[in-house]
Amino acid sequence: MSFTPRVFSGIQPSGDLHLGNYLGAIRRFVPLQHTHETIYCVVDMHAITVWQEPEDLRRATREVAAAYIAAGIDPKKAIVFNQSQVVQHAELAWVFNCIARIGWMYRMTQFKDKAGKNSENVSLGLLAYPSLMAADILLYKATQVPVGDDQKQHLELTRDIAAKFNNDYAASIAAQGLDAEFFPITEPLIAGPATRIMSLRDGTRKMSKSDPSDQSRISLLDDADAIAKKIKRATTDPEPLPETLEGLSGRPEADNLVGIYAALADRSKAEVLAEFGGKGWGVFKPALADLAVQQLAPMADEMRRLVADTTTIDAILRDGAERAGAIAERTMNQVRSIVGFIR
Ligand code: TYM
Repeated sequence: MSFTPRVFSGIQPSGDLHLGNYLGAIRRFVPLQHTHETIYCVVDMHAITVWQEPEDLRRATREVAAAYIAAGIDPKKAIVFNQSQVVQHAELAWVFNCIARIGWMYRMTQFKDKAGKNSENVSLGLLAYPSLMAADILLYKATQVPVGDDQKQHLELTRDIAAKFNNDYAASIAAQGLDAEFFPITEPLIAGPATRIMSLRDGTRKMSKSDPSDQSRISLLDDADAIAKKIKRATTDPEPLPETLEGLSGRPEADNLVGIYAALADRSKAEVLAEFGGKGWGVFKPALADLAVQQLAPMADEMRRLVADTTTIDAILRDGAERAGAIAERTMNQVRSIVGFIR
């Protein structure tokens, strides 16, 4: 069966949104709304897998929604909502908890990183997290999921869960008169020069919300001055920029800054090197700072304006939840019958 092409992605409202979230995800969501049916979620239920102060969670949820809109997502076109308002996410996640194997969850590198040596003492939700993520995607039978490189393993697991559900329930799916490929085998969209933005302090570590150093990341709420300063202070090596892509290998900081420039300018890294190859950081960093300020500062202003208007943001999320809920309920109705729940 062919599925309607449908794009789904989500971002956790935990901590500050940063340039990695923007270039690896949000910026790439924008053009898709013109070519696909698109659903962009603020995954508040994922966020509470680690403790969130309730007031912080509310603020961060509105901030992610504001970032989507400030970046150019039109909430009339795309569906923008927060996960907890569509209860079917939790319902399908439970069914998937019974499909997925515990061993699959223990193998997730993000679980290992987050749990560290403390794996007996983290929340059960943190372990089951990928099962909820699979539910987010498959509730809408999404065919494509744009994400950064760090989500690749979770998307592979989503495909495994879809395949195992289709297989375990094959007879029941057929008995309901439904197509054998009930859930699609979703395709990850991980492409472009910015699938893995690294820390500005250490080119071997991913830019992340949880890095204790504020200098390691550009927050989407940073003002022009902060953006420019962080770029000018970013760690680099002493060599000028190389002329070719091969020249970036073994130079993680240079590779990262060239990738950021390319993504902000909608160009390839090779094109950026064609312009800046042979030039020193004294030329490249100010050019990058100007470009980043020009693109990010107006977005930060718009985000601040939107976040202050909670009535409007909350109404957008509620409207999105209604539209998402209608699709979700169709899928869940089928799932309940397939599984054998009496209604
Ligand atoms: P989250 O909230 O950690 O990150 C949101 C998005 O930003 C991308 N990203 C990056 N991209 C490039 N460089 C970086 N340094 C960087 N850091 C983060 C992430 O890859 C992601 O695309 N589990 C997901 C949220 C989620 C989800 C979903 C995503 C829940 N359900 C369903 C897609 C579909 C997460 O924690 O992303």
